[in-house]
Amino acid sequence: MLTRRPRRNRKSAVIRAMVQENQVTVNDFIFPLFMIEGENKKEEIASMPGIYRYTVDLLVEEIGECLDLGIKTFCLFPSVSEDKKDSTATEGHNPEGLYQVALRTIKAKYPEAILMTDVAMDPYSSDGHDGIVRDGEILNDETLEVLGKMALAQAEAGADIIGPSDMMDGRIGYIREVLDDAGYTNVSIMSYSAKYASAFYGPFRDALDSAPKFGDKKTYQMDPANVKEALIEAELDFVEGADFLMVKPGMPYLDVIKTLSENFDIPITAYNVSGEYAMLKAAAQNGWLENDKAMMEMLLSFKRAGASAILTYFAKEAAILLK
Ligand code: PBG
Repeated sequence: MLTRRPRRNRKSAVIRAMVQENQVTVNDFIFPLFMIEGENKKEEIASMPGIYRYTVDLLVEEIGECLDLGIKTFCLFPSVSEDKKDSTATEGHNPEGLYQVALRTIKAKYPEAILMTDVAMDPYSSDGHDGIVRDGEILNDETLEVLGKMALAQAEAGADIIGPSDMMDGRIGYIREVLDDAGYTNVSIMSYSAKYASAFYGPFRDALDSAPKFGDKKTYQMDPANVKEALIEAELDFVEGADFLMVKPGMPYLDVIKTLSENFDIPITAYNVSGEYAMLKAAAQNGWLENDKAMMEMLLSFKRAGASAILTYFAKEAAILLK
């Protein structure tokens, strides 16, 4: 005689729904959006079918559509022409540069949209690195000053959440102080705390043409073999004043999301990165995986692991499906 029959709790859709432990809703999503200079242009990214780079005018329209679908938070990434790049990423804090213009334009049209930024030198750096380079070395403390200027320019332009993605030491404390000194005590920081030196960023670097011009990012991004190091990074970010901790990539690092969510009492965000998106799209285009089901299962895995928010290129598709 079997006393315990777990299948009884799976016997109908109603009971299955009743006992469901985790759910994905549109409130969980942060939608990353790529931007280009110019007007009235929208270019599809070859390695990310369905994802585009938009000029600001069309980006505003896209955000309007997403707001109607219930997506409220957006993260912006700039694609900057080679002639605007230099060794100190000056364009990144230009008040009239693409990034700041986009923030102001979106906020003017949709004040209710929550805008998250990316703080890192790479899209603006002639070296394609996240920090200042000297003799092949990525300098830490010199880079902090640039990051502070970027964060401040973004806050001045209306950013709600600053997202440092560079992995320099001490950046959260440095940026928090810069923001507070300028009176932006209400601007949040979502730290890319456990950001790994991953092979899953390839399509993103295509989208922004931001691949490193030499070497790799292993002296600042984390070793995929490590999880204790993620606890140290998260602890520092927490102490330095981060409001959210992010793990990136997402799917290959669910254990890291789980570990951070068990050890920290501030929200954890999963970044379901470009390579994860590209993998599913490629398989779906070949008829090897069912796009919608695999997508929802992937998104659910982040919630199950303990993430409260998900940065994902699937946000719009998933929002349409959930409606
Ligand atoms: C910039 C940055 C990267 C991503 C987000 N911010 C690329 C990198 O570190 O090389 C990757 C996101 C993705 O792959 O979707 N520092």
